[in-house]
Amino acid sequence: MTAPADDKRVGGEPNAAFREKKSAPGQTPGGQRDNVGNSYFMRDRSWHAPALTPLYKTSVTRSPQRAPLSFATTLSEETSPVFGNDTLGPLDNDLIHNFASDPAGAIGPRIVVYGRVIDEMGRPVPNTLIEVWQANAGGRYRHKKEGYLAPLDPNFGGCGRTITDENGWFEFRTIQPGPYPWPNGPNDWRPAHIHFSIFGHAFAQRLISQFYFEGDPMIWQCPIVKTIPTKEAIETLVAKLDMGATIPMDARAYRFDIVLRGRRQTLFENRMEGL
Ligand SMILES: [Fe+2]
Repeated sequence: MTAPADDKRVGGEPNAAFREKKSAPGQTPGGQRDNVGNSYFMRDRSWHAPALTPLYKTSVTRSPQRAPLSFATTLSEETSPVFGNDTLGPLDNDLIHNFASDPAGAIGPRIVVYGRVIDEMGRPVPNTLIEVWQANAGGRYRHKKEGYLAPLDPNFGGCGRTITDENGWFEFRTIQPGPYPWPNGPNDWRPAHIHFSIFGHAFAQRLISQFYFEGDPMIWQCPIVKTIPTKEAIETLVAKLDMGATIPMDARAYRFDIVLRGRRQTLFENRMEGL
């Protein structure tokens, strides 16, 4: 990995528009103040996709055939690694450069993704490790089992990580991934998306999902997206174009907020039942 000599922004100060947004605690997507007070928000189990959705072919073998069993957690699961900023490298949140030997970085549309991690009351969730992984601009993953014919980009690894600050904010830079075909139906394509996971206070506390990009018509064609019951729930997985945070002559910005639980919870693939 090579550190780009001309790129001081990532890991340093965001641009002015971004600072402006970050200085507005309690604000949520759409600029409205989130839930306040101590109300109880009952979980809506119909919000999530059911485990068995045959149009998403692998759900047939992945979905449980019997009632789940509950196991007590072990001490190591409850106490093992808690990540801090000292474990992150300076380019970990810059996928354009963190794998590149060429200072110009990866090929593709340059974007900034930023947002907040909040709980069901709209309170920020600080010091939370977020990991991201994605295909390159041509829609190809750097993975030995990848079968798509699009070429690899030698300067793009496809993964990165960052940690939320004291107000729950996070930011990373990358290139916008391309859509790719996958062997589900005869002609199914995944919309452009970035996978992400969030760690809690211990390694076993991990939530996993993926987000899409506003305006992409492929979102509404995807068999995986179609397993989600409502448009409103799907929209929680769509990052919104934010021209106010765009870096002129450099990168467009997308905002993606993550709600851990409650009425507006982000959909998590590995905890379909919710938190
Ligand atoms: Fe993917």
